[in-house]
Amino acid sequence: MQKRTILIQLDTDIHPSVFDRVVAVDSGVDEVFSYGGVTPEKLQALIHGAIFTRGPLDLCRTAIFIGGSEVSKAEELLVEAQKQMLPAFGLQVSLMLDANGCNTTASAAVRAVEKHISGPGHRALVLGGTGPVGQRAALLLAQGGFDVLLASRSLERSQAAANAVGKLTQNPAKIQGIAPHSPAQLQESLQGVQVVIAAGAAGICLLPKVIWQACQELRILVDLNAVPPHGMEGVTVMDKGTEREGKIGYGALGVGGLKMKLHRKAIQTLFESNKAILDAISIHSIDVG
Ligand SMILES: NC(=O)c1ccc[n+]([C@@H]2O[C@H](COP(=O)([O-])OP(=O)(O)OC[C@H]3O[C@@H](n4cnc5c(N)ncnc54)[C@H](OP(=O)(O)O)[C@@H]3O)[C@@H](O)[C@H]2O)c1
Repeated sequence: MQKRTILIQLDTDIHPSVFDRVVAVDSGVDEVFSYGGVTPEKLQALIHGAIFTRGPLDLCRTAIFIGGSEVSKAEELLVEAQKQMLPAFGLQVSLMLDANGCNTTASAAVRAVEKHISGPGHRALVLGGTGPVGQRAALLLAQGGFDVLLASRSLERSQAAANAVGKLTQNPAKIQGIAPHSPAQLQESLQGVQVVIAAGAAGICLLPKVIWQACQELRILVDLNAVPPHGMEGVTVMDKGTEREGKIGYGALGVGGLKMKLHRKAIQTLFESNKAILDAISIHSIDVG
């Protein structure tokens, strides 16, 4: 008899994310074991519990989901979890990182863009680009061949993020950090840009309508901020390929449906082998039909 599928949820927050548990159940997982307040020091016992309990042939029915509101802490767990596996003996399980929805959200945003325009020969601007979602969106756009401007309030932070993201791509020169400090500078940054993704903090408007309206070449607007005021004035939260002043708009909930579908499919993908590592690029390669 086939063993039950088990998703082990390792969360850096004290209370493991209810959202992630619900999605796990909706993905068809038989059992979800949830652990909160997980730190790298506590990881060994948890990983050993996962890899030493079933034979190598059954380990594809155990998988680990790493989440939590602080993405950098979750990234540390992903690195440490891999160190604790014993692949030489087949003793490993699949891993997925989607802390704060960073990977599935960025992938859904870039998939929305790619429905309308492909990367090579085009330029994209990511506002709020230093955050976890913005950095991943910039990475996926660059992987898709876009020239990417990664924007922040601080040039130092945007350049640091652009360098960090650039190291993960085959062509680091495709990502440039910028810090437009005035409406005029923002308008200037939009010259030659066809795509804008707003990935700034919730409740912060980063792009006034008067600015994007005036940009002739701009075609696609994706706003990931669901909390008013939204990230792009004039793009509403439900927009999903909606025509806005001659451009195509997506709002946070418009992208959210695809994000949820992708999250569920990624969880299912974990159980196809015992060695998947699902992070931004691998999640972006999952086919959701
Ligand atoms: N639709 C969905 O399913 C979904 C899922 C997850 C997240 N989201 C949304 O996606 C967006 C990005 O998420 P995230 O976690 O990456 O965001 P975040 O880390 O909270 O913020 C992203 C960036 O926004 C900038 N920022 C912060 N406060 C600001 C302010 N007062 N004024 C201007 N800029 C400010 C910061 O960049 P600098 O300090 O470098 O300027 C920061 O790095 C959020 O709006 C989030 O709510 C949507």
